[in-house]
This record gives sequence, structure tokens and C-alpha cells, in this order.
Amino acid sequence: MRALPLLFLASFSAAAAAPNWASVPSKPITLFMPGQTSLEWLMTPGEHKGADRFRAGAACLSCHTGQERVMGDVARKKYDRAPLGVQPVTLPVTVQFARDADTLYVRVTFADTPDAKQDPAAAKVAMMLDGGGTPEAARAGCWAMCHDDSAAMPSGKTPRTMYLGKTRALMTRQGGGDTLKPAGELARLKASGYGIEYWQVALTPAPVAANGVVFDKRTPAKTVVAATASRAGNQWTEVLSRKLTTGQVALVPGKKYAVAFAINAGHSAGRYHYVSFERSLILGGGAADFVAK
Ligand code: HEC
Repeated sequence: MRALPLLFLASFSAAAAAPNWASVPSKPITLFMPGQTSLEWLMTPGEHKGADRFRAGAACLSCHTGQERVMGDVARKKYDRAPLGVQPVTLPVTVQFARDADTLYVRVTFADTPDAKQDPAAAKVAMMLDGGGTPEAARAGCWAMCHDDSAAMPSGKTPRTMYLGKTRALMTRQGGGDTLKPAGELARLKASGYGIEYWQVALTPAPVAANGVVFDKRTPAKTVVAATASRAGNQWTEVLSRKLTTGQVALVPGKKYAVAFAINAGHSAGRYHYVSFERSLILGGGAADFVAK
């Protein structure tokens, strides 16, 4: 291997010492372009063939394991009014999780895609994280937040961000619009842990970390996520991390979390990202897709 990895400065000076990744197990996952398939589309019988069973409680992966390539093809051809043709429909990604006494780390590696020329950032990597307070996260991954009237979706006429359905007074096939439930009900939802945490790094190409919560909208929070990025050949590798106690979701050994990934590769922007289906994460040991030992 000729290329020396070019290591960019960490975006957060207090970043802890990195784990020894060579000894951390890795798992490949396939991300795909979802087109404009919203949560409402998924829940509509006659549009999505899995709608009835999804509504009854089935998770995406219970039906769609291993189908990412075909789904990306179909989503681009049938469910995208303005498809982005220059990029492949799937993105193979390698994921590793590790932790130490006070920090959780996730390392994500993928190869560059052709340049979509939409965004100044070379790529953006995001992970969603939920600790059970948002039950739809474990069944629908990122689609829990992706509505038909979010920006650039079929019913999206405003720059409305991602949001969670239970914050809306009324959900229809077109989404929930801007009418929220009464403040008291929203406060109760929040207190019960409803809200999906997100971690993000933008490769500018120096890594710029961000984090926050999706509840009634996508709300950035004080930056507690640290990120590093490096590139070797056409491979990007990013490490995102945060202290176990500093986010919306408290991270404790033995508890199961829902995670999912979204990656804007090759200077793509907004909804032209690759997304993963939902995965589970556990810290310490136990049965989950990812174990941060
Ligand atoms: C009960 C099983 C089931 C569940 C659960 C389910 N689906 Fe599907 N889904 C299907 C079937 C069946 C099709 C149609 C496939 C075909 O026609 O070949 C489909 C089609 C799709 C398509 C269109 C692409 C294609 O290959 O036709 C997308 C995108 C999709 N599902 C996403 C999801 C997502 C995201 C979830 C979870 C939020 C989900 N599905 C949950 C069964 C399911």
C-alpha cells in the first residue's frame, strides 16, 4: 500500500485517545439510496407491500435483509421524482464500535463515490441513536424521522427538517405539517425519552462534528461529539465519539440501543444520501448487531 493516510486534526481538542482499531471486530453493512420513500409511504397499503405488517409491528430488516441493491434500484427508478444518476445506488460501509471507561467510539469506513457537485463538504456521516424512548427507531431506523413533507420529499414545500410523528397533532399521508400537540403533551413525550439523538461529521475535508436531537424538528445541541477523519487512497475513515453521559441518550453497559447510519458521499447534499436499515448496539456484551466490548 503506497498511500500514507492523511490524518486531519480532530475537530474537538479534548478527544480521548483512540482505541486500537486493529483489534476491534468490524461489520460490513450496505447503505442504499432510499429515493423519496417516506414513513407515510411505508405505512400506506397499496403503495408499500409491507405496509400492513410494518404497521402491525414488523421491522424493516425482518423483510428486507440483503435486499439493499435491488431496493436502491427500485427506489431510484420508481420512488424518486428527481433522481441523482451519477452515484451507485448502494454504498458498502465497514462499521466498528468500541468503548473505554467513559467514551463510546464508532469508526466508519467507505470509498468515495463519483462527485455529485451539490455540497462543499466532501462527505457527511451521520449516526442516529435511541435508547428505547422512541420505539419507531428500532423498527424503522432513519425512516422514523423521514416524513413526506420534510424538505425535498414529495409533499415537502418548505425547508421543514426531519421530525418525529408523535409531536404532531395530526399525521396524514402527506405528513404532519407544522401543527404540534399541546405543550404539556410534548413535555410528557420528552420526559419519557422520546427524541432521536444524532451524531454527525462533515468532511470539509477537515472533520467538523455536530450533534443534536430530532424531536419536533432537528435541533442542534452544544457539540459533545468529537470526530477525526483520514483518507487513504479513495477510502474515508471517520471516528465519532462522545462521553457516555453527555448526550440525550445515556449510554450504559447491557442496555440495547437502536442505531442507523446516513452518509452523503461524493459532495451530495440533503436527501441524496445513503441510508442503512436499523441496527442494534449493546455496550459490554450481549446479543446485538454491534457490541462495543
Ligand atoms: C412485512 C414485510 C415488510 C416490512 C416490515 C417492510 N417492508 Fe418494505 N417492502 C416489502 C415488500 C414485499 C416490498 C415490495 C418488494 C417487491 O415488490 O419486490 C417492499 C418494498 C419496499 C421498498 C421499495 C423498493 C422495492 O424493492 O420494491 C422500499 C424502499 C421499502 N420497502 C422500504 C422499507 C422500509 C424502510 C421498511 C421499514 C420502515 C420496510 N420496507 C418494511 C415488505 C416489507
